Amino acid sequence: MDKICIRGGKSLSGRVWVSGSKNASLPILASCLAVEGPVRLESVPRLADTERMLFMLEKLGVSSEWHDDGSLRLEVIDEEPFEAPYHLVKTMRASFCLLGPLWARRSRAKVSYPGGCIFGHRPVDLHLKGLAALGANIELIGGDVHTSGPVQGGHVFLGGNFGSTVLGTANVLMAAVLAKGQSMIECAAMEPEIGDLCRFLNTCGAKITGIGTHRLLIEGVTSLHGCTYRLIPDRIEAGTLLIAALITRGEVVVLGARPDQMGAVLDRLRAAGARLEVGEMSRSEAMGLPGKETFIPLEPGRAPLLPKKEGELPPPRKRRQTSDQGDRLMADRIFFDSSGDDLELPGDERNMGKEDSIPFVKTFASDEDQLRSVDVVTMPYPGFPTDLQAQFMALMCVSRGTSILTEKIYPERFIHVAELNRLGARIRREGPTAIVPGDCRLMGATVMASDLRASAALVLAGLIAEGKTEVQRVYHLDRGYENLVQKLAGLGADIERVKEG
Ligand code: EPU
Repeated sequence: MDKICIRGGKSLSGRVWVSGSKNASLPILASCLAVEGPVRLESVPRLADTERMLFMLEKLGVSSEWHDDGSLRLEVIDEEPFEAPYHLVKTMRASFCLLGPLWARRSRAKVSYPGGCIFGHRPVDLHLKGLAALGANIELIGGDVHTSGPVQGGHVFLGGNFGSTVLGTANVLMAAVLAKGQSMIECAAMEPEIGDLCRFLNTCGAKITGIGTHRLLIEGVTSLHGCTYRLIPDRIEAGTLLIAALITRGEVVVLGARPDQMGAVLDRLRAAGARLEVGEMSRSEAMGLPGKETFIPLEPGRAPLLPKKEGELPPPRKRRQTSDQGDRLMADRIFFDSSGDDLELPGDERNMGKEDSIPFVKTFASDEDQLRSVDVVTMPYPGFPTDLQAQFMALMCVSRGTSILTEKIYPERFIHVAELNRLGARIRREGPTAIVPGDCRLMGATVMASDLRASAALVLAGLIAEGKTEVQRVYHLDRGYENLVQKLAGLGADIERVKEG
């Protein structure tokens, strides 16, 4: 099993590209079950989780093939299979969202009920409520959820005790697009990944409106056709890279980071004293700037670039926003648009296609010695994402003062606390809250975590810890970060992946 070895203390600098979004990819891949004809997806990250989803799709009659340009081609070649068994589903909870498209397209589906989770209780009651509202006959037999019957339009409120549900919204949506009649999902998840799924489905011929809002209206269609579609960049990876830069007091341009989808994260980082610049630059500028060694991941349609020469970063060219006013303007345009279809924000893919522009967020080394501690409460989008809570906690450990981090999505998602404490943090948990004293001197140690984001937090802490940190169980990181070690090494971190016998 591989491990990651880090020698902390190197300040990061240079440019790094964000990969395509994992959490947009998984439901979009699942939805290909419901599409007739070939689909070409650009920017799907090559991760353990996406490969796992492709494996499951193959078992369900969907062929897939990666192309040299990094794009992925999928096509349904066998419509007979309708079962996703436990031995496949148990490895990834996201596979439960195969249920909606499978049922909608093949009139029946059998998907194993997801098991326990390291975050605590993670029910699927809202998924089932939504599918039932569309007319599904649902039975739980031997640990499997069976759905059958025709898909009809329906009206469902998908809010639960913890707000909206991301994959629940996706599951219901993927069935509703093929329903007979109209459907409405109220309290739909507003996460950008759901917006991306809607736009993909619409490109395939679906009729969804209200994209980006809490109320999705779906006019059922009889079939979906193939298309070419580029996925959004991964906002959680972008946030992780920004924190990597800030924790090492580095100066890094995170290319592809979409400020319009990271409002809460940028707000908290700025409140902590981070100096950030957001904007966009031309693709050629992004690809060709002289700078420090830069790792370019599988950027769709492009061959990976060679490392760049040493040198200063010239300032990016256009539509830069460094002032608060600029951000406010941008936020206004996000929050007052009802459909999300006519936005023209830095970073919008549709603009990127037309204007050939790449959004970015840049960090600057802070004037002050340290950032200061700020409080964070995780919430559904547009609130602060739970998927960055652990990484933010690592940053708070070395900031000035004490911060309070509260989990409102997964009250048990604190697996990283004990491991950060092994590195010298002094975090205390009180129910769904962590009290994080700052000013900690972190010291390298061997650590491990049983969750993707917790593992990322340990890597971030390792970047600043004195001496050597070994992060074990690297397979968790492989689930959700494409080439994280290479990207951090490209920015100057002393980090390597080591094979263990
Ligand atoms: N919930 C219910 N009933 C349901 C479904 C969810 O009560 O039927 C609760 C959950 O227990 C939780 C809250 O609602 O308290 C939100 O859960 P949600 O359903 O939104 O989570 P998810 O869709 O299963 C996705 C991401 C997670 C991310 C969450 C929250 C994917 C593949 N997964 O999970 O990502 O943490 O939304 O934003 O999109 C990760 O990438 O590391 C990750 C865990």
